[in-house]
Amino acid sequence: MTDPQIVLTERVQQALAHAFGAEHADADPLIRPSQFADFQANVAMSLAKRLRRAPREVAEAIRAELSDFPGTVEVSGPGFLNITLDDGWIAAEAQRMLDDPRLGVGTVTPTQTVVIDYSAPNAAKEMHVGHLRTTIVGDALARLHEHVGNTVIRQNHLGDWGTPFGMLIEHLLDIGEEAAVEQLEAGQGTEFYQAARAKFDGDEAFKQRARVRVTTLQSGDPDTLRLWHVFMDATVRYFNKVYSLLGVTLTDADIAGESMYNPMLERTCADLEASGTAELSEGALCVFPPGFTGSDDKPLPLIIRKSDGGYGYATTDMAAIRYRVHDLKAGRILYVVGADQALHFRMVFAAAQQAGWLPDEVSAEHVQIGMMLGKDGRRFKTRSGESVKLTDLLDEAIERATAAIADRGYDAATQAEIARAVGMGAVKYADLSVSHDSEYVFDFDRMLGFTGNTGPYMQYATARIRSIFRKADMEPAEAQGAITPGEPAERALSLHLLGFGELVAQVAAQSEPHRLCAFLFETASLFSTFYEQCPVLRTDVAPEVRASRLALCALTLRTLETGLDLLGVPVPERM
Ligand code: ARG
Repeated sequence: MTDPQIVLTERVQQALAHAFGAEHADADPLIRPSQFADFQANVAMSLAKRLRRAPREVAEAIRAELSDFPGTVEVSGPGFLNITLDDGWIAAEAQRMLDDPRLGVGTVTPTQTVVIDYSAPNAAKEMHVGHLRTTIVGDALARLHEHVGNTVIRQNHLGDWGTPFGMLIEHLLDIGEEAAVEQLEAGQGTEFYQAARAKFDGDEAFKQRARVRVTTLQSGDPDTLRLWHVFMDATVRYFNKVYSLLGVTLTDADIAGESMYNPMLERTCADLEASGTAELSEGALCVFPPGFTGSDDKPLPLIIRKSDGGYGYATTDMAAIRYRVHDLKAGRILYVVGADQALHFRMVFAAAQQAGWLPDEVSAEHVQIGMMLGKDGRRFKTRSGESVKLTDLLDEAIERATAAIADRGYDAATQAEIARAVGMGAVKYADLSVSHDSEYVFDFDRMLGFTGNTGPYMQYATARIRSIFRKADMEPAEAQGAITPGEPAERALSLHLLGFGELVAQVAAQSEPHRLCAFLFETASLFSTFYEQCPVLRTDVAPEVRASRLALCALTLRTLETGLDLLGVPVPERM
């Protein structure tokens, strides 16, 4: 383990056990970055209270135990321990990280099967900008978990079933299959839906046909199912266009839409009723998970079968959670879904626990996705108030990126490639760099900016390091050290990089990609300072210093590229 904070925590814990007894071995030494040293440990103050001794005395006792520590430990103020690591230790650990193909990122033991439910657009409506965020954040989590050694099962819980399909199929028949397919493939699902809806509301005969069609669909009538497939296949082709533009890892094999659970719903209800988890209430079959009450203080129902016999969103989710635990053998299930569904998921998890379908050792978590806002602070829409077509949005990002790099003298093909990476990187990084549950304003100008915590800035940071190696006429992989950070800026950068492995582990464990963004941003900033203050290729730089600095450049580059790759942010070689 390389992360200095972890190394220190372990060392101070040993010291505590030695000085004050084994019962203190688990105390948190409260290691924090410090203004006056690399780190400070604040444990002496709290421990002194428990031991009824003077804090400085306790701090001194800990210091004495750390005499063989690779650094200096000083007691200051009321009993802080200021800890400065030896340059030699930092150099050795940085070298170890450089030699490690995994950059100090460990693999988890035991590994887990992590089911990640993400993206999940609705076929009966347009894939909107909210789904962009669930897609991007979910995909980053999938990449992170795979990297730390977990088995990831992606589940794209498409909204591909339910009563709207009656009218959608009738509308498809009205306009003809070919026209419908063309429209859906082009991403005009919203327009298609609205046209169907208008007829449903205004045309009694159509409404009647739509109702009959729902029934034939649900009874599994082959002709109707074929039409449903025509509709879905065209829609999925559009979703795939968006995924491929974004470089998202979802494939058709990951589709596990609502329709998949259709054959299980009857049994889901029957089993919940038989076990006494669900009960009839005003004709509807409901679970009343304990602790949920409505505004009237009455128990809140999770309705799994409506009084007309119809199944709904909650029924599907009950079937899905059972399938994921029982059949997919999930150890952990992440639902990367809008924050507005928080109550729904809390109730589903509670009901599943009640039914014994979600055992204690399996954790089900709602990774809440905050709403994407327009510049007006309201839900993101086009100027005319419609929801924004995703391919349009992504195309615009690429267009703007093209304009931003237009004056850099690339040939057309290279420019197109870079623009695509910059545009998609900007959109994705913007989604990832704020905590997933906070709302944020969709703002092209900000996300495409070349300064600040943005995708283009991060990409530029890697391109800049690559250009150093081009000037040096060598491959980054050829820079192998020895790393000897002498200058403060080199030292600070090295020390920071050592935290990468532990950070990645935490980001995966806690579903917090924005912390990886913050780490990478800090890396790029520290690199800038280093590059300003420490010449690398200048002729007056001694060969061993040059070798060390080039190795540090290479280590920084690999850390940035690995981190961005884990986030799913593309990295162009030049910019
Ligand atoms: N299709 C849903 C929506 O657009 C999201 C589905 C999330 N997953 C789930 N298991 N309910 O809001």
